[in-house]
Amino acid sequence: MAETLRVLVTGAAGQIGYSLLYSIANGDVFGKDQPIILHLLDITPALGALGGVKLELEDCSLPLLRDVVCTDQEAVAFKDIDIAVLVGAMPRKEGMERKDLLAANVRIFKSQGTALETHAKKTVKVLVVGNPANTNCLIASKYAPSIPAENFSCLTRLDHNRAKGQVALKTGVTAAQVRKVTIWGNHSSTQFPDLRHAEVTLATGETKSAYDAIQDENWIKNTFIPVVQKRGAAIIAARKLSSAMSAAKAICDHLRDWWFGTPENDWVSMGVISDGSYGVEKGLLYSFPVKCSNKTWTIVQGLEINDWARDLMNKTAQELVEERNDALEACNK
Ligand SMILES: NC(=O)c1ccc[n+]([C@@H]2O[C@H](COP(=O)([O-])OP(=O)(O)OC[C@H]3O[C@@H](n4cnc5c(N)ncnc54)[C@H](O)[C@@H]3O)[C@@H](O)[C@H]2O)c1
Repeated sequence: MAETLRVLVTGAAGQIGYSLLYSIANGDVFGKDQPIILHLLDITPALGALGGVKLELEDCSLPLLRDVVCTDQEAVAFKDIDIAVLVGAMPRKEGMERKDLLAANVRIFKSQGTALETHAKKTVKVLVVGNPANTNCLIASKYAPSIPAENFSCLTRLDHNRAKGQVALKTGVTAAQVRKVTIWGNHSSTQFPDLRHAEVTLATGETKSAYDAIQDENWIKNTFIPVVQKRGAAIIAARKLSSAMSAAKAICDHLRDWWFGTPENDWVSMGVISDGSYGVEKGLLYSFPVKCSNKTWTIVQGLEINDWARDLMNKTAQELVEERNDALEACNK
């Protein structure tokens, strides 16, 4: 059996936490021979509910789960961790300005970045889910300078999975038959869900480009893109709660692929630190198409970018620059 992994989930008493913890503890993410100790962090008023989650985890009777540490103390939560899934964040409240929301989250992710620096293993892998995910991730990384920036990523896999789902529905195949979709940029409504390099294997067994399989460019531009961009809002409008089941599934997909590698003939979308690829400003936390192997991601190179795509990629980059500048300003206050 492998050495026990310490996996931190923050905001663990929340609705994503409730959908996520079972899969991690059951071996669906890090493997069926990987013992796990869960570190669960939430704020003090949520400790009662968190205790209930711990009772349920015990009742699941999971062979890989060695211990569950519930705490409201970062020093305990971040101690010696191998993986950090940062889900807890300040939600937008009525009347709250975007800048105020950013500033509130900067406080959280500055503190958690510092806790990573001080208490976590230097090899820790960090996935930021709490919104605004890209900018929160950038801030956490900034305050953990001794941990490589490549160990930080943010979740755009939910958008990626949504894009695959929409193409599968449109072409009458399953999501497994859709490959090489890309989410560029911010996990927000400015993201660019890109099908220009995507492929679909049709029921006949023939593999076509997504554009040829769909045969409806108007649908791609005027239905597919806005549906994926605004899917989060559509779920809130219907459920009166934000996506949790699909978010938890996407977190598991992201972590599993980072850990075990992506399939040979496919790639995934991850928010990662830009090295300047595709003209995206170096140092921006931007979603790219990536392949993973040996627990390391690499940005897929050489994809053709036309003027239309460039425009959409720049728009979402611009939003990220503004978010970053506001967040950095808030850091110095
Ligand atoms: N990136 C994505 O694709 C994606 C998808 C869905 C949701 N989200 C985001 O994930 C976050 C969590 O969503 P949810 O539905 O679970 O929310 P939720 O409100 O149900 O749960 C959030 C939990 O975080 C806790 N929390 C707040 N501040 C904290 C802090 N400083 N430290 C530790 N815990 C803290 C809260 O007490 C709560 O238990 C939100 O920011 C949401 O916008 C991101």
